[in-house]
Amino acid sequence: MVTFHKAQGYFQLQGAGFTYLLGVSPNGDLHHLYWGKPLSAAALKKLLAEWKKRAVETEHHISREFQRREFPDFGHNDLRTPAFQLEMADGYRISEFLYDSFQVLPGKPDFGPGPSSRVEEADQAQTLKILLKDKLQKLELDLYYTLYPTRNLLVRRTILRNRGPKPVSILKLASASLDLPPDPGPWRLVRFPGRWAKERQMKEGALQEGTLRLESRRGISSHEMNPFAMVTRGDADEEKGEVYGFALATSGNWLIETELFRDQTLRVNAGLNDFNFKWRLEPGKAFVTPECVMAYSTSGFSGLSFNLHRFVRERVIGGFWQNRPRPMLLNNWEATYFKFNHDKLLQIARAGKEAGLELFVLDDGWFGKRDDDTTSLGDWFVDKRKLPRGLRGLSDDIHGLGLKFGLWIEPEMVSPKSLLYKKHPDWCLHVPGRRRRMARSQLVLDISRPEVRDYLFEAIGKALEEARVDYVKWDMNRSLSEVGNETLPPNRQGELYFRYVMGVYDLMERLNRRFPKVLFEGCSGGGARFDLGILHYHPQIWTSDNTDGLDRIFIQYATSFAYPPLVMGAHISSVPNHITHRSMSLKWRALAALSGNFGVEADITKWKPSERKELAGYIRLYKEIRPIVQFGDFYRLENPYQSNRASWMFVSPDQKEALVFVFQVKTPKKGEKVKGLRLKGLDADKTYEFLGEGSKLSGKKLMKDGWLPKSFENPKGSYHCELYHFKTNS
Ligand code: GLA
Repeated sequence: MVTFHKAQGYFQLQGAGFTYLLGVSPNGDLHHLYWGKPLSAAALKKLLAEWKKRAVETEHHISREFQRREFPDFGHNDLRTPAFQLEMADGYRISEFLYDSFQVLPGKPDFGPGPSSRVEEADQAQTLKILLKDKLQKLELDLYYTLYPTRNLLVRRTILRNRGPKPVSILKLASASLDLPPDPGPWRLVRFPGRWAKERQMKEGALQEGTLRLESRRGISSHEMNPFAMVTRGDADEEKGEVYGFALATSGNWLIETELFRDQTLRVNAGLNDFNFKWRLEPGKAFVTPECVMAYSTSGFSGLSFNLHRFVRERVIGGFWQNRPRPMLLNNWEATYFKFNHDKLLQIARAGKEAGLELFVLDDGWFGKRDDDTTSLGDWFVDKRKLPRGLRGLSDDIHGLGLKFGLWIEPEMVSPKSLLYKKHPDWCLHVPGRRRRMARSQLVLDISRPEVRDYLFEAIGKALEEARVDYVKWDMNRSLSEVGNETLPPNRQGELYFRYVMGVYDLMERLNRRFPKVLFEGCSGGGARFDLGILHYHPQIWTSDNTDGLDRIFIQYATSFAYPPLVMGAHISSVPNHITHRSMSLKWRALAALSGNFGVEADITKWKPSERKELAGYIRLYKEIRPIVQFGDFYRLENPYQSNRASWMFVSPDQKEALVFVFQVKTPKKGEKVKGLRLKGLDADKTYEFLGEGSKLSGKKLMKDGWLPKSFENPKGSYHCELYHFKTNS
């Protein structure tokens, strides 16, 4: 997959569906030559000839701003946004890293702690390591490129090593960087901004000259922007054209930065956020950046998502739950909030069992004296007022019903009203002498400190063991503030955001190891930590606190660009919805939940018998379709951000079964032509039969000519929805 063409001085990375070329210029600069569809011999020749013309700098007119660079520094004669910046012991901030050597490694090296895409056998991947050196300061930069033979993507990260006698400060260090050539333009950007209860909304627009920073400065990957973005060329869209995706495997402060230069060259830097960051690198030490997954597609967003979904399922998620169907859960949060007792929970669980659910999750409020959200975080021992027989008593009864048992925790937090805070007021993030600002009445524990992690590992581990849990919901309900640590020296305070995230990963890793069969679900005030870093430890994530059926369509649609439905927690709740106060039909709420990792979050004991009966039907249906929804391929058909309908479909890996979900999100205007649906992913040569209707159509016709579901022909109002299931026996 990786070849070095020595005579011409370039590297060729040949992936599944792409070619990536890097060149070493005569003075040793590393240049980005190409990332795109595989090139013909003639096109390659032309590209190399053009590069040769620009590869040498001249005093007069070729500065490095005319060159496309692979990991650009700052301060010589390329004054665009750099991929990294260092401060030397003497205060100078200029460096010059030139090519030294390379290695091609089987599989992927072990990068130490933190999330890393998985390789079990050496033949599953190949890694190119390019070594650049700054001879003056005796610094080394390793650029890593991992290729997986069947995936149209590469995984990059960077290591900086200090071989010199003095410390160096890292002010910025991207995981990946490159300069993409202007043609064919223009460049567009797709990003996923949001807020609490409205995470990951799809926004698309033209890139203009200048620098654009998509980022988080909150210590978590954030509600405000997801650490995934796509840049597209020309008229690329869902179905067609070139798309480049950048997904970061980090859960703290991140940055995806684009600079569209005057000549329309597009620079992309992706990795840790340089804002408020400074890392002191002692002699002999190395700094390892997180991974950046760079995906490519020539078939629009659909090709990119197809590829990323499989990658997440095969290489990001690991362990016991990697390929296991996820249980349908019943969560008591919206059912009871903090007001529950043993009997009430059992009553809800019993109703859940009757309806066919498989796992009961006890959410917030089971520990300390937590009757509302102002107390007890940190006191991870059971509240006997609510659960007199302890967690074990409850879990025994739940298990006795034939359900699995799960528990909510929020390890990273402490309530000032708690025994833990009384004992260790210095354990939270704080700056001595300054006010500690609260959010949701809580402070953030400084999980970068080993003694804090040890306490949490013991206290939470004990509770999970006692409760014999099968599932854990790991929540995190606020951004970081007053990020200071008295145990760190003054010149290391700029490291704390990253040390915090690495502390979180360390605790996750330790709990994963201690409870290898427990299913962990990530959560952060809904979906504020929805990223590849979390997915390495937690194979599913709570998508949003907003369970309103209509809003969910938009959130889940946009989330699906990078993340497969398998990892998206999707629950049916009661109406009127607790956040939006809207009442969508049970069918609509169910179809939204059936499109993801299904669950229920409601006091169904209060539902009418007819509603419970209907719910039981959806649960039976999910049981039947779960293998396709969770492990089949997902295709978006209609974009609710741009049309009156949302529709998507799932196809089983053997292409014998497909599910089509259609949601009328808006009423079409009078006289507006109702469009048909062009299905995807079917076998063109097979005939498919609609279950229930009996009509038969060929895969080719369904994909080429499209098909209009009857009930959508004359939509009278909004919010009509259907699920179509079809199969082929041939
Ligand atoms: C967060 C989560 C919710 C729920 C509450 C409990 O908001 O996203 O699902 O667990 O905390 O306090």
